[in-house]
This record gives sequence, structure tokens and C-alpha cells, in this order.
Amino acid sequence: MAAPRYKTLVDALASDIRSGRLAPGARLPTHRGLAAREGIALVTATRVYAELEAMGLVSREQGRGTFVRDIAVPAGHGIDQQIAATDVVDLNFNYPALPEQADLLRQALRELATSGEIDSLLRYQPHRGRPQDRASVARHLTRRGITADADQVLVVNGAQHGLAVTVMAALRAGDVVAVDALTYPGFKVLAHAFRLDLEPIAVTADGPDLDALEKLCATRPVRAIYAMPTLHNPLGWVMPAADRLRLVGTARRCGALIVEDAAYAYLVEASPPPLAATAPDITVHVSGLSKSVATGLRVGFVLAPPPLVPALERAIRATTWNTPALTTAIACRWLDDGTVDRLEARKRDDAKARQALARQELAGLPLVGHPSSYFTWLPLPDDARADRLTAALAREHISVSTAEPFTTTKHTPQALRLALGSTDPDSLRSTLRTVRRVAVEDAYA
Ligand SMILES: Cc1ncc(COP(=O)(O)O)c(C=O)c1O
Repeated sequence: MAAPRYKTLVDALASDIRSGRLAPGARLPTHRGLAAREGIALVTATRVYAELEAMGLVSREQGRGTFVRDIAVPAGHGIDQQIAATDVVDLNFNYPALPEQADLLRQALRELATSGEIDSLLRYQPHRGRPQDRASVARHLTRRGITADADQVLVVNGAQHGLAVTVMAALRAGDVVAVDALTYPGFKVLAHAFRLDLEPIAVTADGPDLDALEKLCATRPVRAIYAMPTLHNPLGWVMPAADRLRLVGTARRCGALIVEDAAYAYLVEASPPPLAATAPDITVHVSGLSKSVATGLRVGFVLAPPPLVPALERAIRATTWNTPALTTAIACRWLDDGTVDRLEARKRDDAKARQALARQELAGLPLVGHPSSYFTWLPLPDDARADRLTAALAREHISVSTAEPFTTTKHTPQALRLALGSTDPDSLRSTLRTVRRVAVEDAYA
């Protein structure tokens, strides 16, 4: 039986987009234009575009038309990561975005274009950011519960860059750094590049095992502790206030610097005070706008004890000179006019809804995660193989991560991390159903 007309048209357009015959960014005919060109009904043309959109090949922008998406490197995929086909649902990386954000950016660019600032944005900027931008960040951090002075703030090219300059400024090859047994993979990459000696600390349900940390500090010269006390990646914990105080006490006793990563902290509405609020003299606090606003902005912040600021500034100079003024200017406008606060609140709700969906669709499986987190951790039975399950899911066009990138111990636990923030809510539900079916068949049989 011949495929319906709309299907052959979808296939033809999909093939043109995948092969590059239709270039990224190209505007496609209007629905009416497509209908007239192909001799099909208007409703069929609408269906064609809806299907191409569901396949991730085009984007529809209210009032502007339908555009070919850039599919060469899907968002979130870096150099050592498999480049996924466009029909793969990404539960591997988180790049949460709300539908209204494209319009926000358009408006911000328009405003910037007509502001008096534009000329100055063409010049080099101070390495750690313009004073007015650092002041915006300081006010933002103060709203987060850390009394911050603009002189201690450095604007960086995303939180990953913030961690990199911290390592460059404060640590040397061979230094012992305590990290959670499961931690953010980007810090492992840094440790490898800068030859740090990572010492894993066992994890408990709500934070690192502090007895183990104390023992480690008594036996090895721990120079730094890398911690994510508020919404840990990948386990989602929020460390209780008393445990934070104990961690700070241990760091003080052994003379260790605390590197506090708050990339996902905005997702927790009422958390105990950040470590930087309790121990500002020994804590470098790193955060950014990737997860609360957009990963592509590449704007992050470092708040550091004053004696470390010059070395951090030199590290920024050595790596990027300054964070691009254009994105920093937009980010700081959004910090000042309340846009970031609004997006954070919307994303907390979005993450809660997605997490609830995951708990509903994966009910009965032993999920670990925070109720307002964009990811969930799924430990597998001991005899299951996470890589086999990952391959089985890949055959269903679903990309997930095993525990391997997160593990700092020699033994890698069998587990999956499912990122819930990157796919649209409708396909998230059906994708999670498939994850459940495949996991039950493969690992929980
Ligand atoms: C815990 C943590 N820290 C830092 C980062 C890096 O974020 P950015 O995109 O701001 O460099 C990430 C990104 O996923 C993260 O999960």
C-alpha cells in the first residue's frame, strides 16, 4: 500500500533537512504556500509541519513562520559525546528551556541594539567583568542568601569555566581534592586535565559521608573539597544545615578550600544557607545561568574570598580574557529586571511537574532524586548491566547516561541517570514508558 501523501512529503522534507539541502535557519513556505505548491489541503500541510516539528527538524515561531533547525550538533553534545541522531530523545543532557525564551532573547537583542551600550560592547572588557555587571551578580547572590560584595564577584564563561579558573587559581598538580563518590562529570574532566588527586567520599542519602570525610582529612593532606550541597548532581540531595556546619568545620580543621557548585541550587526554593554564606573566607562559590536561563548564554559567576580574586582574574585572563560582553550584558539586564527570578520560578514548577511524571511512569522502580530536580537516578539490581540497558534504550532511540561519567571510585555502580529537562513534556511521558518497559525487561526481569 502506498504511503499517504503527507507521509511522503514529510519524508522528502526530512531528507532535505538531514542532507543539508535545506540549510539550518531556512524559512519554509507558509502552510498555505506549501499546500498550494504541493497541491494538498491546508490541513495536510499543517500536519506535515507538525510531524517535522515532532521529529525535531523544524521549529515554529509564533507569527514568524516555520524554520529548519540546526541539527548538526544537537544542543548539549560536546566533543567526547556521541552525536545523537535527530530522532533520538535526549534523557542524557539537561538543557531546560521554556517556549517563551526565544522571544525574550529577541526582545533583549532589540533593546540592546538601541541602547547607548552597544559601542562599548565591541571592546575588551575587564577580565572579571564590568563593575556594574559584577554588582548585578552580587545583588542576585544576595537574594540567594549570600551577602556578596561586587569586588568578590567574577563573571565567567559558564559554571564549568568557573570551576576551571578556581582549579587554576587555587590548586596544583598532585593536590588532593575530596569529591563525592558520584559527582558532576565536568569536575572529573578538570581533575584529569590538571592532574588533581581525587579522593572519593562515600555518599549517603542526604550528602557525603562526613565521618569518611573526617577520616580522609586525618590521613591525607586534603587541599580542597568539591561539594554540591544544594541539589547534588546526580543524586539530588540537599544537605541539612547541621551537616553543612560539620563539613565547614572539617574543612577549617584541615585547612581545605571549599569549592561549592550551585549550578542547580535555584531549583530548591527554601534550602539551608549556602556554604559560602557560612564560611565566606574559605569557600569559592560557583554558579551560573545555564540551567536557570539557557546553556547557550555561557554566563556563570564565581564568588571568592578576597585573597583569591587576583589569581582568579589571572586565570580568566589566561583562558578567555573576558566573558563575551554581549551575553553578559543581556544576562545582567535579566538579573536586574526580574527575568531570571521569573524563569527560575517557572523552571522550578516545570522540573517539579517532570519529576512527578517520572515518579508516576516509573513507579515501583527505586528512583533517587529531589522532587524539584531535572534529573533522577535509577540504581539497577547488582546483576544488571547499565551499558546493556543503555544500548537497548538506544535501539528505542532514547539516550541516557550510565553511572560511569559520574563515578570517582574504582568500582562503577550499575545505575542510570535520566535527564528530564530537555525533551517536551508529551514525548517525555511516552519516553519514560518505554524506559520502564525496557528496564523491566532487561534489568528487573
Ligand atoms: C553540577 C554542575 N556544575 C556545573 C555545570 C556546568 O554548567 P555551565 O553550563 O554553566 O558551564 C553543570 C552542567 O551540567 C553541572 O551539572
